[in-house]
Amino acid sequence: MDSSKPLNPFFTDTTDIPDEYFCDRKKETQDIIGYIVNGSNIVIKAPRRIGKSSLIKHIFNQASIRDYYNTLYVDIYGTKNASDFRNELQRCFLNAPFAQESKTKKNIESYLKSLQIDLGSYSETGFNLPKIGIGNYQAPQYTIDEVFNWFEKADKPAIIVFDEFQQIEYYPERMAGILRSYIQQMRNTKFIFCGSSKHMLNNMFSHYNKPFYNSAKSVDLDIISLSAYTDFVTSIFTGYGKTIDIEAIEFTYYLFSGNTYLMQELMKLFFSVTESGKRADMDSLLQCLTSMIDSKDADYRDLINRLNSKKERNTLYCIAGEGIARGLTSTAMMKRYDLDNASSVQNALENLCGENLKIAVRIAKGVYMLQDRLFELWIASRGGYLDLKLSHPKERFDKERKIMESIPEIIPPKR
Ligand SMILES: Nc1ncnc2c1ncn2[C@@H]1O[C@H](COP(=O)(O)OP(=O)(O)O)[C@@H](O)[C@H]1O
Ligand SMILES: [Mg+2]
Repeated sequence: MDSSKPLNPFFTDTTDIPDEYFCDRKKETQDIIGYIVNGSNIVIKAPRRIGKSSLIKHIFNQASIRDYYNTLYVDIYGTKNASDFRNELQRCFLNAPFAQESKTKKNIESYLKSLQIDLGSYSETGFNLPKIGIGNYQAPQYTIDEVFNWFEKADKPAIIVFDEFQQIEYYPERMAGILRSYIQQMRNTKFIFCGSSKHMLNNMFSHYNKPFYNSAKSVDLDIISLSAYTDFVTSIFTGYGKTIDIEAIEFTYYLFSGNTYLMQELMKLFFSVTESGKRADMDSLLQCLTSMIDSKDADYRDLINRLNSKKERNTLYCIAGEGIARGLTSTAMMKRYDLDNASSVQNALENLCGENLKIAVRIAKGVYMLQDRLFELWIASRGGYLDLKLSHPKERFDKERKIMESIPEIIPPKR
C-alpha cells in the first residue's frame, strides 16, 4: 500500500483533516473565504459535531488564507470567566503555528517585552509558561487588548476564531460588551465566532439591543448532503481497493441524521473490518453498529446514573423511545412511560435540556429529541427495541428535517 496513505482515512478524533479526506464543504469554504476577503466578521452556527471546527481548520489550510493571514484559533468551551478567556487567548496566541516561525517569534518577544512584563522563560521552543499556582511564580499576563494589538500591528492581516463563543454569555462579566468595544476598533483583524447553540448565538447577534448586533455575517452550517457523503465514502473505499454498498452509506446517513461525527465513526469501523478486495455490505454494517453502540456502554450507564430520579429517567426513556417526542404530558404518553404528572415531566425536561446535562434538546415548541443519536440507539438496544429504530431511518430523517426547516405559518395580506 502507498505509505503516504493513512491506515484509516476516516478521521474522528481530530479537527485537523487532510484535504483529501475532508468531505465536501466546497461552497461553505468558498463563501466564508469570500466574506473574510471582503472584510466581514462571521458567525457560524451548527449543532455539535456537524463539522464547524473542522471547517475552520480546513479554511485556514487553504493557500489563499494560509499564505496571507495570521490565523488564530481559540476554543473557549471550558472557560468560565474573563480571566479564563484571557488565559486561553494568550495560550493559543503563543502556541499558534505562525508564532513558531522564528521571525514572528522574535517580533512577538520584543513586542511583549516592550509592554514591560516579566516574560518568564522564553526559549527556542516558544514560551515556557509555568502553570499558575506552582511555587510563587506568576506566568506573564497580557491583557486581551495587548494580544489584539499585536495582531493589529503585524505585517499580515489576521483572522481570530472564537469557537463555542456562546460560552461568554455564562461569564459573570459583561464580556460581549467588553469584546465588542475592542473588535469595533480593529482594522487589520477579522473575527469568526463559532458555536453550537444557535438559540444563544442568534440572541447575541440578531437582537438590536445586544453588543454584537449586526456585527457579523451569519452562516448556518447544515449537514453534508447525502450525495456528497455518498461520493466521498465510495471514493475512499475504492481508493483502498474495497467496495461498499450504497445502501449501507444511505442507511448510516439517515440513521444518524447526517451527523458528521457519528457517520465518520461508523464508517471508520466499517472501513477497518472490510478487507481489501472485499465488499462492505449491510450485514457487516449492522455488526459494526452494534459494536459502536456497545463501546459506549460505560459512558451511557454513567450518564443515566447521574439522573436524579425515576421521573427524570422515564422522561429520558420517553424521548428516546419516541425519537422525536411530542405531547409528553398527554395522558397516553404519561401512561405508557410511567410518568407521574405534567409538572414533574416539565421539571425533568428542563433538567435534561439544561446546561448541566445537555442530554435533550427542544427542537420546536413541545418537541424534544436526544442530543446524541447514539445514546438513543443505546437505550433502544438495552430496552430490546433497537429493531424499531433501524426499520425506517429515512422516514425519521424526513420528519426531523421538516420540523427543523419549518417556520410558523405566514398569513398573506388581502390582494
Ligand atoms: N467535512 C468533513 N469531512 C470529514 N470529516 C469531518 C468533516 N467535518 C467534520 N468531520 C469529522 O467530524 C467530527 C466532528 O466535527 P467537528 O468539526 O468537531 O464538529 P463541531 O465543531 O461542529 O462540533 C470531527 O472529529 C471530524 O473528524
Ligand atoms: Mg467544535
